[in-house]
Amino acid sequence: MDLPVTAVGVGPPTDLIPGRVLVTGGAGFIGSHVVARLMLMGSQVRVLDNFSTGRIENLADAAIGGLTEADVVSGDIRTPEGVEVIHQWQPDVVVHLAAQPSVPAARRSPLYDADVNVFGTVNVLDACARGGVRLVINAASSAIFGSVAAHDLPVREDHPIAPVSPYGVSTAAGVHYLDWYGREHGLSYTSMVFGNVYGPRQEGGDCGVVSVMVDALLGGRQVVIHDDGTQTRDFIHVSDVAEAIAVACHHNGVGMVNIASGRQTSVNEVYDTVREASGVDNPACYEPLPWPGEVRNMALDTRKARELLGWHPKIGFTEGVRMTVRDARRRQAPSQILSPVWALERAVSR
Ligand SMILES: NC(=O)c1ccc[n+]([C@@H]2O[C@H](COP(=O)([O-])OP(=O)(O)OC[C@H]3O[C@@H](n4cnc5c(N)ncnc54)[C@H](O)[C@@H]3O)[C@@H](O)[C@H]2O)c1
Repeated sequence: MDLPVTAVGVGPPTDLIPGRVLVTGGAGFIGSHVVARLMLMGSQVRVLDNFSTGRIENLADAAIGGLTEADVVSGDIRTPEGVEVIHQWQPDVVVHLAAQPSVPAARRSPLYDADVNVFGTVNVLDACARGGVRLVINAASSAIFGSVAAHDLPVREDHPIAPVSPYGVSTAAGVHYLDWYGREHGLSYTSMVFGNVYGPRQEGGDCGVVSVMVDALLGGRQVVIHDDGTQTRDFIHVSDVAEAIAVACHHNGVGMVNIASGRQTSVNEVYDTVREASGVDNPACYEPLPWPGEVRNMALDTRKARELLGWHPKIGFTEGVRMTVRDARRRQAPSQILSPVWALERAVSR
């Protein structure tokens, strides 16, 4: 599968003020940072989420910023009723982050992964095309590129799309569908290819190596590193990702664009940084990979984001990991629930 970089509606930066922005998956890890960032920008923001992995507590910052109960729509992107908000509310921009985001979970259940990431995404895009949405910003992942030769790193956006996992396949399908909606329906889009996003509020489940390590060390558990730990990924802090999305809202679609740090960090380096930031020095245990065909090395070329969006990452990895550890410690302490969140909770429990 080879997809040319299609820059639908590319033009010089414009001062397009996004009045209304709908964030699907807005109660999730990345989405909740995006919602809070967009509220700061002065946009009217609504969240569409089915709370399968998202949490209402994630919206505490946004609630302080003015997000109300009426702005949180509890619905599923796979249903006509779920995407009805696009027809009714008529957002200028839709930031589509609702997804099944886990590589291991997609291996366990490719059907569910495809249902949410392919069918759900097409349902959202179709509603956007019919609803006259000015711009769609979509989340893709470096997993769409599969295994890349060392001489092609960092990967440029015009590199062949060749995923090697069900998650990579379903995410790549979203990119291809966006390209088709762009050509066929004139839908302007920015398809962001994220590196490994980390930072406060990420759940240490089975995705997010930084938060998995932070949660294990703070919880007194041993960290398991698969393989020898020299495999690399491109880590990008969630605040930088939220900033990239906020900036992109003010532009026309730029097609596919990498949002990452541009550099490789090995799993062993991640572990050393987390150990130092947490002050917990517990040796890791090394185990063989639970499945074959894991991508060995990854980094994304970020020049296009710099040139077309004027975006570049600002948070260094050590600083970002310290922020993540501070947040995890705060979450472990008995929480003081903020009253604006109670109002949002009522909206979701109905
Ligand atoms: N976290 C990363 O490192 C990373 C890297 C690359 C790409 N991405 C992509 O970024 C996006 C956001 O990921 P995240 O890490 O914030 O994950 P997340 O699980 O925290 O957020 C996903 C949100 O979507 C919601 N959701 C799931 N299925 C839904 C459905 N059917 N209808 C409505 N809402 C639904 C969940 O409740 C959750 O709030 C995803 O597309 C993911 O694939 C994430």
